[in-house]
Amino acid sequence: MGIEDILMYDESLFQNINAFDPDYFPPKYNFRETQMEAMAMSIRPAMRGGKPSNVVVLGSPATGKTTAVRKVFEIVENSTEKVACVYINCQIHTTRFGIFSQIHKRLFGHAPPETGVPFSRIYDRIMKDLQKNQKALIVAFDDINYLFQSKNANKIVYDLLRAYEEYPGVRTAIFAILSDLEFKYAFDKNVNTVFIPQEISFPLYTYSQIEDILRDRVNAGFFPNVLPDDILEQISMYTFENGDLRIGINLLRSCGNIAEADAGREITQEHFDRAVESLVSVNVAETIKSLNENEKTLLKLIADNEGLYNAGDLSELFKQKTGSSYASFNRALGKLEFVRLVDTKYTGKGARGQSREIILRFNPDDYDI
Ligand SMILES: Nc1ncnc2c1ncn2[C@@H]1O[C@H](COP(=O)(O)OP(=O)(O)O)[C@@H](O)[C@H]1O
Ligand SMILES: [Mg+2]
Repeated sequence: MGIEDILMYDESLFQNINAFDPDYFPPKYNFRETQMEAMAMSIRPAMRGGKPSNVVVLGSPATGKTTAVRKVFEIVENSTEKVACVYINCQIHTTRFGIFSQIHKRLFGHAPPETGVPFSRIYDRIMKDLQKNQKALIVAFDDINYLFQSKNANKIVYDLLRAYEEYPGVRTAIFAILSDLEFKYAFDKNVNTVFIPQEISFPLYTYSQIEDILRDRVNAGFFPNVLPDDILEQISMYTFENGDLRIGINLLRSCGNIAEADAGREITQEHFDRAVESLVSVNVAETIKSLNENEKTLLKLIADNEGLYNAGDLSELFKQKTGSSYASFNRALGKLEFVRLVDTKYTGKGARGQSREIILRFNPDDYDI
């Protein structure tokens, strides 16, 4: 097909292409009842004048954390006037003003003016409103690790959790949502004394759960009979092996796009193969880009020393290169494994206890590290 044909071709395989968008709100949301009930339990006291509890929502990327919190918040908002729930995406809002202006917006229907009003006035207005209306406030910080790029992270949490000292009767709680391992090192000692959260964890989905979720998505997004079952199974298996549901949803969309550009009426094996090929290279490149300096240095060491698989030797090299401790080596290695750029495997007793073997999961020649 020529470019004009591609653009103008009006037979679509997609019944609703938004079903594959990152912010699509799936009407059917299975397998997370336990977690959502646990969240409801922590909010419940606030409906009756009590104090809601703080929560940490923990799990690998794409295990449904964001969606589950938003669903629960929506239900709470629809059932009571006594609790205000505010969802903050920390990839977008990281400043003290930015965050409190979201809270302001939720309570008063509009953001405060950007200039001319000191922060303390905005804060005071929010807290007095909660106090007067006997409303509890729950703030979810999604991907809270990004908040720690702002030097005010501890202050923001403190502002919220210690509000009752200056404004008696004000009840607040924080839902901290995160996928990153490093969070535990992030809070100040001061904050740790007021932020004692209940942990709610989101385990990885099993193969059959993934297949169920993706099938629902197929039914919402494609016309009937566009995606043959055996391709759905391959997509589900690929998604399961990569441990990331988002990959499956992206694959569905890109299979559809490729088939459509091919003027096909159904998705074929070849479309699937091409979709996988384009996905892999984009994903690895993006993950590498998101690493911090230490993690990048370590990845480069691993890539440059293929054949050196032993974690002990590698930690020595890392120390020479960066001057960092064994603990930071371990943290960086943990991260690389967590984002699935490397695999580590215990290989029995070595000179210093358990030895670990490290395996790169991509071809370093294909990427810029
Ligand atoms: N149980 C589920 N049912 C349907 N879709 C789901 C389910 N869990 C996750 N998803 C979908 O997977 C994607 C990632 O979910 P998200 O809530 O953003 O995960 P996280 O916040 O843990 O990274 C979203 O598109 C979401 O709609
Ligand atoms: Mg999320």
